[in-house]
Amino acid sequence: MSKLKGKVAVVTGASKGIGAAIAKSLATEGASVVVNYASSKSGADTVVAAITAAGGKAVAVGGDVSKAAEAKGIIDAAIKNYGRLDILVNNSGVYEFSSIEDFTEEQFHRIFNINVLGTLLTTQAAVKHLGEGASIINIGSGVSRITPPNSAVYTATKGALDAITGVLARELGAKKIRVNSINPGIVDTEGTQTAGFIGSDFEKSLIAQTPLGRAGRPGDIASVATFLASDDSNWITGELIITSGGLR
Ligand SMILES: NC(=O)c1ccc[n+]([C@@H]2O[C@H](COP(=O)([O-])OP(=O)(O)OC[C@H]3O[C@@H](n4cnc5c(N)ncnc54)[C@H](OP(=O)(O)O)[C@@H]3O)[C@@H](O)[C@H]2O)c1
Repeated sequence: MSKLKGKVAVVTGASKGIGAAIAKSLATEGASVVVNYASSKSGADTVVAAITAAGGKAVAVGGDVSKAAEAKGIIDAAIKNYGRLDILVNNSGVYEFSSIEDFTEEQFHRIFNINVLGTLLTTQAAVKHLGEGASIINIGSGVSRITPPNSAVYTATKGALDAITGVLARELGAKKIRVNSINPGIVDTEGTQTAGFIGSDFEKSLIAQTPLGRAGRPGDIASVATFLASDDSNWITGELIITSGGLR
């Protein structure tokens, strides 16, 4: 109940899906949480209400991670509300699959700006507030290893995140800041429902290749994020933790 007592976390894209589950899980362990959203204020307010009803502390903060000033605003909200920052979960992300014939320049920039630039900007804003024992967790994806067809742009963003995790683990190690990635397989979320992945032949083929035989649930990812945020993982940095029921 108190592995994160006294710690302060920012979770980007926490209005729904995996981010919402991570925010709730961190709060259950005692962290005060900045619940970031881009467009779904009501989703973020619902997450905050669930956390506070359970006796935790959280605040909803709007902001587009792909804009430097807004990314800084999300991080500054942690300092303003709770006076410190210990945990950054870079979860905000968008996915859209297209064949190599069909992808567009606009799509490339939009997906890279949110998934890659957004992670770099929030991390840049956070670093000056992070000290010894801090943990940065990037939400990558199993796709960087599975390389599914029709996903070149999205998979490239997640390959970039794998690389960023490795680089920043080395760069920030001297400050005793740990940096790790969680790379989920397919997870049933608002996003994958809306994108039509859940219930599709694509999902069925992924589940058929998953030893544990089902799609992931947001809580499957949140428990690993909470482990990586806590001192239980204090000798782990630069790792990509495939969290997929064995799909790889
Ligand atoms: N679900 C999966 O199968 C799966 C598998 C592997 C990896 N992942 C990764 O896990 C992460 C979460 O996925 P999910 O399925 O939970 O997604 P989701 O249900 O679609 O939720 C996405 C979240 O990201 C936020 N977001 C989008 N654009 C943003 C921006 N510009 N600035 C700040 N926040 C932004 C959304 O905020 P608003 O709703 O407020 O706009 C929302 O809170 C993503 O990085 C995704 O690539 C997912």
